[in-house]
Amino acid sequence: MRNDVALQFLRDRRSVPAAALQPPGPTAGELREIVATAIRVPDHGKFTPWRLIAFSGEAGARYGEALADLHARVDPGVPAAKLAKDRERFTHSPVVLAVIARIDEHHPKIPAQEQLLSAGCLAYNLLLAAQAAGFAAQWLTGWSCYDRDAARLLGLADNERAIAYIHVGSRGEEPPERNRPNVDQVLSAWQG
Ligand SMILES: Cc1cc2nc3c(=O)[nH]c(=O)nc-3n(C[C@H](O)[C@H](O)[C@H](O)COP(=O)(O)O)c2cc1C
Repeated sequence: MRNDVALQFLRDRRSVPAAALQPPGPTAGELREIVATAIRVPDHGKFTPWRLIAFSGEAGARYGEALADLHARVDPGVPAAKLAKDRERFTHSPVVLAVIARIDEHHPKIPAQEQLLSAGCLAYNLLLAAQAAGFAAQWLTGWSCYDRDAARLLGLADNERAIAYIHVGSRGEEPPERNRPNVDQVLSAWQG
């Protein structure tokens, strides 16, 4: 059955920059609802190659501080402005969800790419579920997603990596819409 409300919701879906997100964030109950909704993602093999770590309250500031310490240790010449950015990264929005991909590189049937894509679906579904629950969100990454020492700060195992930080909060002023591709730019018929 056609669902025009859902189609309109998907057409209206957009991010709000993390720095523009405000309190209130989701309550513990709302966060569980967002997560319960979002984890219904395609998952080839059905072995849940992902998990989530939530930051709320002071946790974001503590993680940012730990990242800044790590950054300064690895690169003693790093400009102070970059360290300040590290410290603030997880303090703008009331809640941040780190999406952790758990990749079995040697799985006999499911290629690593498909496991990673399932985690990507989860990240996107969190954006959708957060917006559907009345909040705004943005998917950010940054250097810490690609750094093993930062992964250890998150408590990740060797086969785990953060693929998204989903920042969730309330929207303030509506930011300008960005340019979007149109259908003709991206859809072609196979000419074979
Ligand atoms: C994998 C991935 C990583 C991203 N990382 C960042 C980032 O670190 N910083 C940033 O400004 N935007 C990043 N973005 C883009 C934003 O999440 C978002 O797509 C952008 O603000 C446009 O908003 P929209 O969701 O309304 O299209 C990332 C997007 C993806 C898919």
